[in-house]
Amino acid sequence: MFFSEYRARRMRRNATIRRMVRETHLRVDDLIYPMFSAFGKGIKKEISSMPGIYQQSIEHIVAEAKEVHELGIPAVILFGIPEHKDPLGQDAYSETGIIQQTIRAIKAEVPELQVITDVCMCEYTDHGHCGVIKDGDVDNDATLQLLAAEALSHARAGADLVAPSDMMDGRVAAIREILDANGFSHIPVMSYAVKYASAYYGPFRDAAESTPQFGDRRSYQMDPANRIEALREAELDVQECADFLMVKPALAYLDILRDLKEHFNLPLVAYNVSGEYSMIKAAAEKGWIDGERVMLETLVGMKRAGADLIITYHAKEAARLLR
Ligand code: PBG
Ligand code: ZN
Repeated sequence: MFFSEYRARRMRRNATIRRMVRETHLRVDDLIYPMFSAFGKGIKKEISSMPGIYQQSIEHIVAEAKEVHELGIPAVILFGIPEHKDPLGQDAYSETGIIQQTIRAIKAEVPELQVITDVCMCEYTDHGHCGVIKDGDVDNDATLQLLAAEALSHARAGADLVAPSDMMDGRVAAIREILDANGFSHIPVMSYAVKYASAYYGPFRDAAESTPQFGDRRSYQMDPANRIEALREAELDVQECADFLMVKPALAYLDILRDLKEHFNLPLVAYNVSGEYSMIKAAAEKGWIDGERVMLETLVGMKRAGADLIITYHAKEAARLLR
C-alpha cells in the first residue's frame, strides 16, 4: 500500500463519506454543565472572565436547570457560594446550606436531571483552602471527616452523584463508607482522581469566590509535570471504590486522559475547566478564532483522547449545535 495506488483523500471526498469513516462522536449525552448557586434572591451576576456563566440565586438556577434538561443534557454539577464562610466551612455540611437547598429545589422541579455535587471545602472556608488548616497547611485526616459529612448531607438533600475535588488522601473511601452506613450505597462517587495545581482555574475562583487567602494548593493538588503519579492517584481511587475517574484540567492533559483510559475500566471524565473556556471566549470575542468551531474541535479532542464524559461551561452551546 503506497502512493500512488493508495490515496487517503478518497475517504474525505464529501461530507457523507467523511461521516461514514468518522471515529469519534461528541454527543449531548456526554456533557455535564457546571452551575454556581449563590445565597440570596434575585441574583444573576455574570462572571466577567466567563461570558455566559453566572452566579445565580436558587430560582434562576432552577430555571436554567430546566433549560439544560430540555436541551437533552443529562447532568449538572453544582458549586455553592454560601452566605457565611468560616474556618471549618460549616455551610458545606449544613442541612440548610446553599447547596443542600439548591439540590432540593432542582430535584423538585426537574427530577430526571442528574444532580452532581462538588464535594470540597474551599468555597465554604474563610481561608479558601480545600480543608481544615493546621500549622499552616491543610490537615488531611481532619478534613476527611468534614468531606464525608458534606457528601452525606448532599445525598440526604437528594444529590444523585457526589464528586470530591479536594485531593485529600483517602477521601473516596471515607465518603463511600459514610454513604453506605447511612443507606446511600446507590449513590456513585465521581472522583476528581487526577487534579493538577493549575493556573487554568483562575476564572473559576472568581466565580466560586474560592481563592486561597494564603499560599497555594500545591501541597494537595498534583504537579503539572507528573504523569506516572497520575496512574498512582487513579489506582488508589479505584481501590477505594470510585465509580468514575476524572482528569482536570483537560486541554493541557490529554495524554493523562489517554493513560487513564488505557489503564482503568471505569468511565472517564474530562473537566474542561474555566481558563480553557475563557481563552476560547476571549479569542472569539476579538474575532481571532471561530469560537464555535474551536469549541467543538476542543471537545471532540477530549473524547478522542479517551474521555467518556466532559464537564464543560460550553455544554449548552454545544448541545444546541449537536441537535
Ligand atoms: C474546588 C474546585 C476547583 C475547580 C473545581 N472544583 C478549583 C480549585 O481547585 O481551585 C476548578 C474548576 C474550573 O476551573 O473550572 N476544589
Ligand atoms: Zn477545593
